[in-house]
Amino acid sequence: MKIKKEVDAFGMEIMAHYNGDEVTEIIERSDGYIDGYENGIAKYFGEYKNWSYATKQAMKNIKGKTLDLGCGAGRIGLYLQNKKIDYLGIDNSPLAVKVCKLRGLKRVKILPIENLNNLKEKNFKSVTMLGNNFGLLGTPKRGKKILEELHKITTCDANIIAQSCDISKTKNIFHIAYQKDCLQKGKLRGELKLRCRFGNIKGPWFDYLMVTQKEMEMILNGTGWKIQKIINEKTGPLYCAVISKV
Ligand SMILES: C[S@@+](CC[C@H](N)C(=O)[O-])C[C@H]1O[C@@H](n2cnc3c(N)ncnc32)[C@H](O)[C@@H]1O
Repeated sequence: MKIKKEVDAFGMEIMAHYNGDEVTEIIERSDGYIDGYENGIAKYFGEYKNWSYATKQAMKNIKGKTLDLGCGAGRIGLYLQNKKIDYLGIDNSPLAVKVCKLRGLKRVKILPIENLNNLKEKNFKSVTMLGNNFGLLGTPKRGKKILEELHKITTCDANIIAQSCDISKTKNIFHIAYQKDCLQKGKLRGELKLRCRFGNIKGPWFDYLMVTQKEMEMILNGTGWKIQKIINEKTGPLYCAVISKV
């Protein structure tokens, strides 16, 4: 049997930006809809002063030793490392991890969040899921499993700082049709199947979640976590949640 080698398209985008190229971030959805964000990769390299309002407010809740899920190019890690906060970043993209190291991040490793049970370290006081990374939970079922795993490796007063996007009010007819299809299949409206592209190079398909605050509550229910506070962006559908143990 031939095993298909997966291509790290997102990591290629990160590496190309690190090397000085202007990279259009391209995301394809399973219905064929493709979005391109000109120089969109730059935001994953952004310094604190350029972070969004909600991200800055949410980051005030960091309690100490932090686990960063899907650390990307390491913007959160470099900020915390400069503040002398014990930090570990994980990402499933080998090239993103390489860029983090090239940028000076000391503690970062290749680890998909679905393999958190392989992580030897414990006692994290905060977990970050920024850059819309609540989405990495993939589906409600997979999300609950990952949240339970996070519960085991965090202190009793730990929190999760997560960003998501309420897509329920979109006016885009293609998004509305996709959401309707998801709902008809008994899924949440924001259970997406996506892949990244670097030019014409295609990464693997992955499940990605965008949730309303009510849907986030539903996913957290029974996992030992609850929403402590919501911080909305001043405009637009993005928001951050500070999540604490029940
Ligand atoms: C949108 S970027 C956000 C990066 C960073 N958190 C930030 O805010 O700048 C998402 C990151 O999650 C990583 N990722 C995607 N699926 C993952 C998984 N299953 N496990 C770990 N990391 C994953 C990607 O490689 C990418 O670096």
